[in-house]
Amino acid sequence: MSIRINDIAPDFTAASTAGEIRFHDWLGGQYAIIFSHPRDFTPVCTTEFGAVAQLSAEFAKRKTKVIGVSVDSVADHDKWKRDIEAFGGAPADFPIIDDSSLTVAKAYDMLEADYYLPTEGRTPAHSSTVRTVYIIGPDKKVKLSMTYPMTVGRNFAEILRALDAVQLTDGKPLATPANWQVGQDVIVALALNNEQATERFGALDIKLPYLRFAKAPQ
Ligand code: BEZ
Repeated sequence: MSIRINDIAPDFTAASTAGEIRFHDWLGGQYAIIFSHPRDFTPVCTTEFGAVAQLSAEFAKRKTKVIGVSVDSVADHDKWKRDIEAFGGAPADFPIIDDSSLTVAKAYDMLEADYYLPTEGRTPAHSSTVRTVYIIGPDKKVKLSMTYPMTVGRNFAEILRALDAVQLTDGKPLATPANWQVGQDVIVALALNNEQATERFGALDIKLPYLRFAKAPQ
């Protein structure tokens, strides 16, 4: 079954480049991003992991842990890290999980549909994980997920933007509009009437009775 928003992120124990990871313990009550990629030593994946390495300070600023996963071994991850760091020009200081058993890939629905077909002659490409991202909250619940095919590299600026929006709205009667960027106004939920909304979030910019903007809380 697929993982839905607000599901508890599946727990697992796995080897990683940072030693054994017990996932729920590793989360440690912080926001986290778990993201899969198809294989080590492949071009798009190298650009993606280089991009994540470059954003290390941004994730730290947001108190968000990051962990990669693919079906390759720790030994391969360790060797590939050197390429990532050479290409990205930044240390890849986040763990990468060895999911050669496919435990994480199956629990997090990170495999292509074809993988499940009982065909003969399967190659390693059939058990590659696709480019899946989960943002997990301090309550261990899934806040956001996205999945890209193997051929489309992710936009990590968008992942950071989405993380900002998740952190801003988590547990609050707020939402972010289309194409929202940090610093822009946010939408106040209809659970609050105008008086309650003003009291909590300051002056409203009322575009429509059901579309009311307020300054984003700091
Ligand atoms: C890549 O990372 O370049 C890649 C990996 C698997 C399939 C297609 C592209």
